[in-house]
Amino acid sequence: MELAELNAALDDPLLESMNFLNEVAIRFPDSVSLAAGRPVDDHFDPAELEGYLSRFRRYLSADLGYDQRRVAQTLFQYGRTKGIIHDLIARHLRVDEGVRADPEAIVVTVGAQEALHLLLRALRAEPRDVALAVAPTYVGFTGAARLMDLPVLPVASGTSGVDLADLRARLLQARADGLRPRCLYVVPDFANPTGISLDLPTRYRLLEAAREERLLLIEDNPYGAFTGQDGRLPTLRSLDTGAQVAYVGSFAKTVLPGARVGYVVADQRVRGRGHGYFADELGKIKSMVTVNTSPLSQAIVAGHLLAHDFSVIRANAAVATRYRRNMSLMLAGLERRFPAGGDVTWNVPSGGFFIVLSVPFRADDGLLEHSAREHKVLWTPMSHFYGRTGGETQLRLSCSSLTPEDIETGLDRLAALVAEQRSRAAQAPR
Ligand SMILES: Cc1ncc(COP(=O)(O)O)c(C=O)c1O
Repeated sequence: MELAELNAALDDPLLESMNFLNEVAIRFPDSVSLAAGRPVDDHFDPAELEGYLSRFRRYLSADLGYDQRRVAQTLFQYGRTKGIIHDLIARHLRVDEGVRADPEAIVVTVGAQEALHLLLRALRAEPRDVALAVAPTYVGFTGAARLMDLPVLPVASGTSGVDLADLRARLLQARADGLRPRCLYVVPDFANPTGISLDLPTRYRLLEAAREERLLLIEDNPYGAFTGQDGRLPTLRSLDTGAQVAYVGSFAKTVLPGARVGYVVADQRVRGRGHGYFADELGKIKSMVTVNTSPLSQAIVAGHLLAHDFSVIRANAAVATRYRRNMSLMLAGLERRFPAGGDVTWNVPSGGFFIVLSVPFRADDGLLEHSAREHKVLWTPMSHFYGRTGGETQLRLSCSSLTPEDIETGLDRLAALVAEQRSRAAQAPR
């Protein structure tokens, strides 16, 4: 079989990105990982799964009045394509986000990742179609777009999380080039990889720009529950009055990643046959991709929502405190090791999992391997989150699933790597 005869995306290094990073982590298990954007997992208790499952069963029989046979079918059988916990997700959105969403406009997906695929598949209609995305961009989005043959045009993030002047300029240029911009992908809360959040005025201005430009915003929000001291800002979806936002949610970081449950709220009306929701079109695609999201996984997530009065924010209060502590420890640890005004700098996110560090040397895949082998510390080269160029001298640090000791050890090792690379650069012939 010839690679050249397979889908061209498979020859794109972009699609190797996640596997490469996982593979480095597997090959160097004794490294401290400042790379993994995983939720903390030492509180996971298998006994809780049974509790969540029986909570959902009780809901089906007591609240919905299902008899035993129907309860069994709901859990055991193929199910409704758009999902079986859409009502509960709608209640969660009301409690945590102040969003009133019609449950019929929600598609429960296999992680947020499937939601991104469904959206991109639906939006990509013609060869001239393009997506825009705030850069640097989560590789799961750019990789999915690549698989859909949908080019992604970068929009500068700037310090506010999206540079609106750049957005307007990119749209103008794209249209002048005969392209058809279909959406802007944005992670407004503690973005992966930058950790940056959009402030409130920027959120309003972005919605206004989207309305004027008739551009759909894909709001992806896996980290919104993990705020810093400054508290939470309203999602774009909750501020949206013009059906401008398709909202992608994930229970991977807030409930459990292994369940693989996410969702998309897509209540845009689709003119043409039926005048239904955009979600119905996404459901058609889903029926040909994963058929339905595992009812057992949905049941676990539903049980968790029921057990916590539909609030993942409240359910995650204790872990969110740990993430805040880790972020403070990481920032303080960087300050102690890299003096202000020096050649190593970083941003100061107000929450979430990620920090971006800028260093005076190339921080590429080769250096990551060296770092893992010689210094036993892992991080993520920022170049993975850019298209062809960008981020060459930056690395993403994640502090989510580390102990305070790991943070100190990891930063010591990182500082040793930086010192080594500095002295190599000083010795290199000019
Ligand atoms: C920004 C962003 N979107 C989506 C995802 C994928 O979420 P899920 O695990 O629900 O597929 C991730 C996972 O790390 C992410 O960082």
